[in-house]
Amino acid sequence: MWEFTSPKTIIIGEDALEYLKTIEGEKALIVTDKVIRSLGFVDKVESYLREAGLETKVYDEVEPEPVTENVFRGVEVARQYNPDWFIGLGGGSCIDTAKAIWVLYERPDIRIDEINPLTKLGLRRKAKLIAIPTTSGSGSEASWAIVITDVKEKRKMELASREVVADIVILDPSLPSTMPPRLVADTGVDALVNAMEGYISTWRNYLSDIHAISAIKTIFKYLPRAYRNRSDREAVEKMHYAAMLAGLAFSNSQICIGHAMGHAIGALFKVPHGRTIASVLITTIEYNLSEALDRYAEIAEEIGVRDDSKEKTVEKFIQVLRKFLIELDEPVTIRDIGLSWQKVQESLDDLVERAMMSTGTVANPRTPTAEDYRKLFIYAFEGRRVDF
Ligand SMILES: [Fe+2]
Repeated sequence: MWEFTSPKTIIIGEDALEYLKTIEGEKALIVTDKVIRSLGFVDKVESYLREAGLETKVYDEVEPEPVTENVFRGVEVARQYNPDWFIGLGGGSCIDTAKAIWVLYERPDIRIDEINPLTKLGLRRKAKLIAIPTTSGSGSEASWAIVITDVKEKRKMELASREVVADIVILDPSLPSTMPPRLVADTGVDALVNAMEGYISTWRNYLSDIHAISAIKTIFKYLPRAYRNRSDREAVEKMHYAAMLAGLAFSNSQICIGHAMGHAIGALFKVPHGRTIASVLITTIEYNLSEALDRYAEIAEEIGVRDDSKEKTVEKFIQVLRKFLIELDEPVTIRDIGLSWQKVQESLDDLVERAMMSTGTVANPRTPTAEDYRKLFIYAFEGRRVDF
């Protein structure tokens, strides 16, 4: 038996943001960051909400790769303001932070690390959530996952609850059209790995598969176009929807070891999430082949890569994927991120420990031991072919 959780209402297409004019309520707290504010999106959201008769307040202190302090400070603001709507406006960082603030606002009795699928939260007594992504990547708008960094422990907390799925998602393609190309590639690759890992995870199911494959096909087709030409409106729009599909896929299946390793690197070295998972992607595929050859071959065939055997098909697919990442100026090894071997070697124990603790390890098709992870980080550093 599988449970598929998704947002209740999803608004897509040109002028989707205007849906805010129809929201019923009293007070909305907009959770965002200073860059989004400077782009004028916050003003637009506020004006539509006011047209709907709501009061608004802005909390714009979310940082990229958000930390617990960003959440705690937002909870204070929320408790003073008493909103009945939270608006997560921005990339995954802003939406994740909005989710976490919302939980702690409704449940002052729990700790942030208690947000997990086993805790009954009983949300929506005080407020509901609208997610408005401005990037096309994390899928946070559609997922029930939250990633927040605990600075003291230099750890990325992978929090989750089916209750934190947004009530309303607004996908307005005019918002991601302002992203700089670097961000387009970094977030787009995140969406790709979210979908691919959702497809190979042992927790995959019929419904997560449909969303994963659709996202993968769309991303292969449109991400290079959206990266090269920001005025390619079709590509920008399709990428925005694909990121959401990938969010539905992985959050109703599971992330795998690419995310386990990527989160470990990101927590220790503060590298953008998309780049960390890009840097280990090929190594993790090679490692998983003994258990997931069929699944990778299916992905390959869906994007039109075929050969006379599954082994050869996947071999070809890995070459296509490498070219795809290079075309997007994404790292294909850990070294490409700009980390030195000395730095990685010094942190190896730490990296392995963090990866072992990640939820990405649980439902990976092949279960890595600590020794496997040690080798995976070493092999991924220079892109050496996995032979174990
Ligand atoms: Fe991700």
